[in-house]
Amino acid sequence: MTECMRTKIAGIGHYVPEKVVSNHDLTQYMDTSDEWIRERTGIESRRYAEKHRETTASMGAKAARIALERAGITAEEVDFIIFATLSPDYYFPGCGVLLQRELGVTNKEAGALDIRNQCSGFVYGISIADQFIKSGMYKNILLVGSEMHSMGLDFSDEGRAVTVIFGDGAGAVVLQPTEQEGQGVLTTCLHSDGTHAEELAMINPGSHSGYHLGTEKFGYPDVDVPGGTFVTQTMVDNNLLAPNMTGQLVFKTAVVKFPEVIQEALHKTGLQVSDIDLLIPHQANLRISQFVQKSLRLPDEKVFNNIQKYGNTTAASIPIALSEAWEAGLVKEGNLICLAAFGSGFTWGSALIRW
Ligand code: ACO
Repeated sequence: MTECMRTKIAGIGHYVPEKVVSNHDLTQYMDTSDEWIRERTGIESRRYAEKHRETTASMGAKAARIALERAGITAEEVDFIIFATLSPDYYFPGCGVLLQRELGVTNKEAGALDIRNQCSGFVYGISIADQFIKSGMYKNILLVGSEMHSMGLDFSDEGRAVTVIFGDGAGAVVLQPTEQEGQGVLTTCLHSDGTHAEELAMINPGSHSGYHLGTEKFGYPDVDVPGGTFVTQTMVDNNLLAPNMTGQLVFKTAVVKFPEVIQEALHKTGLQVSDIDLLIPHQANLRISQFVQKSLRLPDEKVFNNIQKYGNTTAASIPIALSEAWEAGLVKEGNLICLAAFGSGFTWGSALIRW
């Protein structure tokens, strides 16, 4: 390993589907209102992918092509793919290999890794890529965060508290080694606590058999099916194939963990909150971002939010926001960029990057 080798973001891109779904549009499916959604989440609209034509991997590929072009490399030169999503095209294999095929990454040495860290997937991906690059193992890593939530939400009144929050989209970065003084990923901090794993989760389909909770709440597999099955009639009949969220617990925990993990990264690098040029928090909920901003005493121009337009796009939210901020000229050479995420698991993390 070269002593001063760091990891830089060499190219970035994003893609959001064309279809805009306003809060008002959702009122035709469920009992909700523009006022309720804006007040609680700050969201005004979200994008939904075009069914049968777009997938999580295909949206990821669109974002990736832009990131590759901006990095000045071809798909052939990618030597490792990391794909973060909670809404994959298939239960398995993961989206990493689908992206590889779609982009035509024919380099047989290239590996593909899928990560299932939901909202913190992109920050975890940065950290993984950083270790591979610093060790000298890879030189061109393509990291993608993509979600097609619209296929997995419950559009009845029962699912409204979750459904109104989420949207579709993808973001991608190309990571490369840099020896430029001071540039690159300065540190990453990763954390997890599975105590509340089921409080923000999509339990089914799955192999859990219900035993972990001692309750039928999430649906037992049908007992008379030899060997069991991931999807059961009970799950279908009881509308148990959608995500669930204990919103207030998520909110309360997120507003503590976000500032904590940002301060941790600053402490590790000997920097201060005032050194941050731009904070890009995972776009969970505008109220959470505002809480974090207030507790860190950051001015408005140092926090980037776009959840108003796109809703919460989970693993895609940070790269979409970073890409938009970069396109708007808000991410300049030498800037200190802080990425931070919290979500299902719970898992959370931060990354400090000198651009
Ligand atoms: N439209 C209208 N009414 C609704 C909706 C909706 N979409 N959803 C729930 N309600 C109703 C509830 O049924 C309830 O009605 P009731 O009082 O008659 O029982 C009422 O609104 C209040 O419900 P609460 O769940 O108590 O609402 P709360 O004020 O907690 O807001 C929310 C819910 C927005 C989810 C909030 O808890 C929150 O922001 N939590 C953070 C969760 C979050 O941001 N998750 C993002 C994904 S996770 C991540 O990325 C980290």
